[in-house]
Amino acid sequence: MAESFAVKLEEKRYLPDPQCRTNAWVPDYSQAYGEFMRDPEGFWENVARELVWFEPWDRVREWNYPYAKWFVNGKLNITASCLDRHVAAGRKEKPAIVWHGESGEKRILTYEALQREVMRFANGLKSLGVGKGDRVCIYMPLVPEQIVAMLACARIGAVHSVVFGGFGPDALAMRINDAGAKVLVTADVGYRRGKTVPLREIANEAIRHTPSVERVVVLRRESPGAGLDPAREVDYAALTGEAAPDCPPEVMDSEDPLFILYTSGSTGAPKGIVHTCGGYMVGTYYTARHDFDIKETDVFWCTADPGWITGHSYIVYGPLAVGTTVVIAEGTPDYPDPGAYWRLVQDLGVTIFYTAPTAIRMFMRYGDEWPAKYDLSTLRVLGSVGEPLNPEAFEWYYRTIGGERCPIVDTWWQTETGMHMITTMVGEPMKPGFAGKPIPGAVVDVVDRTGKPVPPGTGGFLVIREPWPAMLRTVHGNDERYCAYWKTIPGCYTTGDLAVKDEDGYIMVLGRADDLIVVAGHNIGTAEVESALVSHDAVAEAAVIGKPDPLKGNVIKAFVTLRVGVSPGDGLTDDLARHVRKSLGPVAVPAEIEFMDRLPKTRSGKIMRRVLKARELGMDPGDISTLEE
Ligand code: PRX
Repeated sequence: MAESFAVKLEEKRYLPDPQCRTNAWVPDYSQAYGEFMRDPEGFWENVARELVWFEPWDRVREWNYPYAKWFVNGKLNITASCLDRHVAAGRKEKPAIVWHGESGEKRILTYEALQREVMRFANGLKSLGVGKGDRVCIYMPLVPEQIVAMLACARIGAVHSVVFGGFGPDALAMRINDAGAKVLVTADVGYRRGKTVPLREIANEAIRHTPSVERVVVLRRESPGAGLDPAREVDYAALTGEAAPDCPPEVMDSEDPLFILYTSGSTGAPKGIVHTCGGYMVGTYYTARHDFDIKETDVFWCTADPGWITGHSYIVYGPLAVGTTVVIAEGTPDYPDPGAYWRLVQDLGVTIFYTAPTAIRMFMRYGDEWPAKYDLSTLRVLGSVGEPLNPEAFEWYYRTIGGERCPIVDTWWQTETGMHMITTMVGEPMKPGFAGKPIPGAVVDVVDRTGKPVPPGTGGFLVIREPWPAMLRTVHGNDERYCAYWKTIPGCYTTGDLAVKDEDGYIMVLGRADDLIVVAGHNIGTAEVESALVSHDAVAEAAVIGKPDPLKGNVIKAFVTLRVGVSPGDGLTDDLARHVRKSLGPVAVPAEIEFMDRLPKTRSGKIMRRVLKARELGMDPGDISTLEE
């Protein structure tokens, strides 16, 4: 890890329309933050009271470092807050999900319809023998059924593990095996750029290596529908068609697991981040409502896939707990043309738009003429997530998309945090390049290696000092890796990011301190790509680094040594790329592969990626005293 270091900060401020502030749920950030700091438990308790509980909690928080419990002994089911309470209280006819397909198809599920679909699928899962605590893997395209499947698991207390539909068979199999999933829910295909993505085929390849999977539910979208293997496969439509429409919510303890979601670790296999029911519900509800300032008439579009934490927290659980209308769209932002997103904003009257810097930079490159074709005047709040929103992209987003009218909430958080931790609340002055301040509810700091705060203008490690409701509770099957988050820097949760604060307490996130690469908003572990490369016959060793890229934020560069007797002859680069794509999916394919005679290593044999990175970027490699030669 790097030491603290000086950072030159250039500051520009944007003041949103004073009306934004007057009308916001949080009209005065400092006051709200002060209230939270004076009584953190009272603060969260008030939020929790807005949601549905079957039995109240005894204590708001129990902190037994590094283990936290929230809303101790409270009983709930998150779907009662996301569905039942809205159906009962006047939002029955309100669209919950508005789905848009690549070729213009549209489907709307009202809160009542969504509740019904969830209950049917929940009963369907039960009929397959799925019960409380069982794990269900969901490997689906971005269709309403993906969300239905997640909520159906939650309804019956099964733990879902959603795997992004862009992952390949090995990545899927590894995640299924780690979670020990009993049922896999998939679809025949996804649609992307006018082509089909053969999800069922990939799933079939994966489950050859996953003994825990008993049944596979297949949503058939193509016609004629593919023939299913009756011994293992179940048709989604038949399963829900036969199921009873009523399924009362399972009573869950606050601390029962809600889901596992895999995130790339810097070493070894991906980590199954475990989130629980009560605290996660309260944290995502509060941040969805307050950070995006969601009001009753808003139409909220988060462009992520539910396969990532952004989708879990801000497509599914947070917005639905608030009771808003959520837009989802299958496909890519520039298909059939680079105006696709803006057309949808116009046609659906989107008011809050939440996307990633990589998409913003891509739109910027296509030019202003695309958004100019559409009426974007319904937009009211813009959001960003996944990597630093660089000032150029901020300004373009603010001017061209937001018409200099919409506040931008650049939200910093992680799979592990489950909810936003830093942003600039609607109505507060915005500083391009800075995510903002800790949200009311989070205690965030920038510190040196010993946990001592560093002064403004000095870079250091971004940490969280106090437990928060939506925090991860453990790493599935590997609690030691959970503890490591809290033990790297004494007394703090280490985020793995480097950051710097300014005099006003605004935080600029500088990037990862360890070996994760954020490519086009997707978090890729160096270890997983390296192991995919090494699984190729020609490869002896591989080291992978992230290389800054104007469009994608980072691209993957791989350094490879070949087995003795193998030479980097014709087509090997392409062959390796194909190999990684097949194993991990297109998101993980290196943009560049360089063949080397040997890799720089420490004496203990650890590859020093940072030396490779320094060489690649023409930087000082820092301390190389542990280098082998
Ligand atoms: O490095 C930070 C970056 O993404 C990491 C978390 O990745 P993941 O768990 O995949 O979750 C992504 C969606 C929450 C962080 O450690 N990151 C996320 N949001 C921001 C960010 N970096 C800078 N600014 C952000 N707003």
